[in-house]
Amino acid sequence: MSQKTMTKEEYLNKVKEIDTTSEAPKQLEDTDFLTVAKERRSVRQYDPDFKIDKREIRELLETAALAPSSSNLQSWRFLVIEDQAEKERLLPIANNQQQIVDASVVIAVLGDREAYKNADRIYSQIAEKGNMPEDIKDMYVNSIFDNYGSFPKERLAKIAHIDGGIAAMQLMLAAKAKGYDTVPMGGYDEAQFIEAFNVPENYETVMLLSLGKGTKAGFQKTRLPIDDILQWNRFE
Ligand SMILES: Cc1cc2nc3c(=O)[nH]c(=O)nc-3n(C[C@H](O)[C@H](O)[C@H](O)COP(=O)(O)O)c2cc1C
Repeated sequence: MSQKTMTKEEYLNKVKEIDTTSEAPKQLEDTDFLTVAKERRSVRQYDPDFKIDKREIRELLETAALAPSSSNLQSWRFLVIEDQAEKERLLPIANNQQQIVDASVVIAVLGDREAYKNADRIYSQIAEKGNMPEDIKDMYVNSIFDNYGSFPKERLAKIAHIDGGIAAMQLMLAAKAKGYDTVPMGGYDEAQFIEAFNVPENYETVMLLSLGKGTKAGFQKTRLPIDDILQWNRFE
């Protein structure tokens, strides 16, 4: 194997150069879950003139927020970057990945380490629906405050990353089902992003996602064989 390496920016952008796919992303007639899961790809080329309207973006985020979360505390938070000038500002922070400026929007999936402070609001909704007696609700809320309130920052951060990752996946699949494309991105400078977009101190940055109308399908799926990643019962 050659010893040559690339900078992070070269590595992230080379992918578009070597992607010789000529067809556009598949528009699915069948949006059955398994078809959507199989057909979603990371798409890095977008129609810069195509704008998804806010109502649809809100609907996609509502679907994303149906994802499960730790104690139903829904720690995900979304920053939707739609202004072209704001996307331009993000571009160098995200290693000049062109999809930042070409896709309709960039969605920063964030996670609130203090999401547990909404426990009363969330569990009151559950009680109001008649799904939990009031006294049990109070016990739940008190326990959540005791537990989450005493967790170290790292543990709250881990929870925020897990919740946010699951919601991000649901968002990508919902987008595909609705005829849009996405690419998740970890290739950005987190500290610069936090600073430039005034991300609150108690928020984790989980990932960025470009969302828009893809013009090139992206790579076909390649995955390790299932037996290389699967173990039954316990490790020897
Ligand atoms: C956490 C995470 C970070 C990623 N970061 C980037 C990125 O910065 N730029 C990019 O072009 N793709 C990025 N990807 C996309 C992966 O390269 C892609 O998911 C992988 O190659 C599999 O391809 P598929 O999504 O088409 O199945 C990222 C994916 C994940 C899950």
